[in-house]
Amino acid sequence: MPHIVVVGSLNMDLVVQVPTIPAPGETVLGNNFATIPGGKGANQAVAAARLGARVTLIGRVGADAFGEQLLANAKKEGIDVTHVGCDPAATSGVAMIAVDAQGQNSIAVASGANYCLTAVHVQEAWAALANVDLLVMPLETPLETIETAVSLANQAGVKVILNPAPAQKLSSSILAGVDVLVPNEPETAQLTGIEIDSAASSRQAAQALLKQGVGNVVLTLGSRGALVLNGETNQFTQVDPYPVKVVDTTAAGDAYVAGLAVALSEGKELIEAANFANAVGALAVTKQGAQVGMPTREEVENLLTQGV
Ligand code: RIB
Repeated sequence: MPHIVVVGSLNMDLVVQVPTIPAPGETVLGNNFATIPGGKGANQAVAAARLGARVTLIGRVGADAFGEQLLANAKKEGIDVTHVGCDPAATSGVAMIAVDAQGQNSIAVASGANYCLTAVHVQEAWAALANVDLLVMPLETPLETIETAVSLANQAGVKVILNPAPAQKLSSSILAGVDVLVPNEPETAQLTGIEIDSAASSRQAAQALLKQGVGNVVLTLGSRGALVLNGETNQFTQVDPYPVKVVDTTAAGDAYVAGLAVALSEGKELIEAANFANAVGALAVTKQGAQVGMPTREEVENLLTQGV
């Protein structure tokens, strides 16, 4: 069983279903409301655990009811939360999410305790861990913390998957330490300054990311699958999607990242891993909610073998 370490966020998602995402200044009357455990880091951790990995989460919650619920849920999913600290001076991370009738979403995050995760917390946690196969990180914790985690993994010869979400400018030392960068199209545009409006511009932007120093690029294309740029061969491969009925796209990217991480840590090649991840991401959008909507290994294997 591969051991995946996730350094990342835990948020309580406050989710409202709306007919349309409200425009600035607009009030929209919604339908159902739910509090659902989320946060990109915890979502990736839960998805990886459901796919069969041993998962350790390094993060931070506040000393409040949301923090307790987030920890309890991660534990219930079998995740090692020994290194999720509780910060008495901060509130737990919260995300306000509106999901429209087409399953598209808009998300506003109050980071709270997630931004109290320091480089020292990661150093202490890393020193206590053994037999790590892969490090996975989104960008909802401080960049200094991310940089430290990348450096620790590089020193230990552990591969790093970085999901640059939400997108922000990354130092050359972070980029040089990343084996696989997994952005979506808006994130790729932000990281490269290249407007993505065609297959050619997607390829150009992926090349630009490789030039910035990462080892490989897996550009997620939503319902169009993924574009893989292998850094060793400089070859592009379009990996086709699994068409599904979309209910809620929240955390689809997190499901994808977890799928890629599990497949790579099990020894699959990059293209095969991207195909596996496509199936994980596809199944995640057929259900509502972030962590509650993550598929099991059995569901993924069924989709891969039978297309159901
Ligand atoms: O990727 C989806 C996640 O982004 C949500 O669960 C929310 O908490 C934000 O972190």
